Amino acid sequence: MAILHLTRKEHFNAAHRLWNSGWSEEKNFEVFGICANPHFHGHNFDLYVTVKGTPNPDTGCVIDLKELKKIIRIHVIEELDHKNLNLDVPWLQHCIPSIENIVVEVWKRISAQLPKDVLLHKLTLWETINNFVEYYGE
Ligand code: NI
Repeated sequence: MAILHLTRKEHFNAAHRLWNSGWSEEKNFEVFGICANPHFHGHNFDLYVTVKGTPNPDTGCVIDLKELKKIIRIHVIEELDHKNLNLDVPWLQHCIPSIENIVVEVWKRISAQLPKDVLLHKLTLWETINNFVEYYGE
C-alpha cells in the first residue's frame, strides 16, 4: 500500500514577545533585541500540518480534509488567532512563545485529535517570510 504525506495549510495572526522573566531587562534586550519590545509585536503565522497515511480504499483519501481542517481550526487556530500568545493562551503560559515552543505545543494538540489510522508527520510554522520552524514530533 502506498504511504502518502498530505498537508493542510492554516493561518493565524497573533502577538507575542520573547522575554525570559528570570533575566534582567538588559539581558532580555541583549538576547532578544526588538523581539523583547514591552508592548509586544505581531506576526502573520502560517501553519502547515502534514499527516501520513494510506488512502482509504472507499474514499481514495488519507484523511477527510474537512475533518483535518476542523481539528486544526478548533484546537489550534481558534485558540491562537488574534490573541496575545504571552497572555491569552493557557497552554502557552509555561513557555516563551517562540515558534519553536509554539509548534511543540501545537503538535500535542493536533496529534491527540487525529483518527487512529492517520499519523501526524510534520508541522511547519512560518513566522515571517524569512523564518520558519519544522517539527517531526521528536
Ligand atoms: Ni516575533
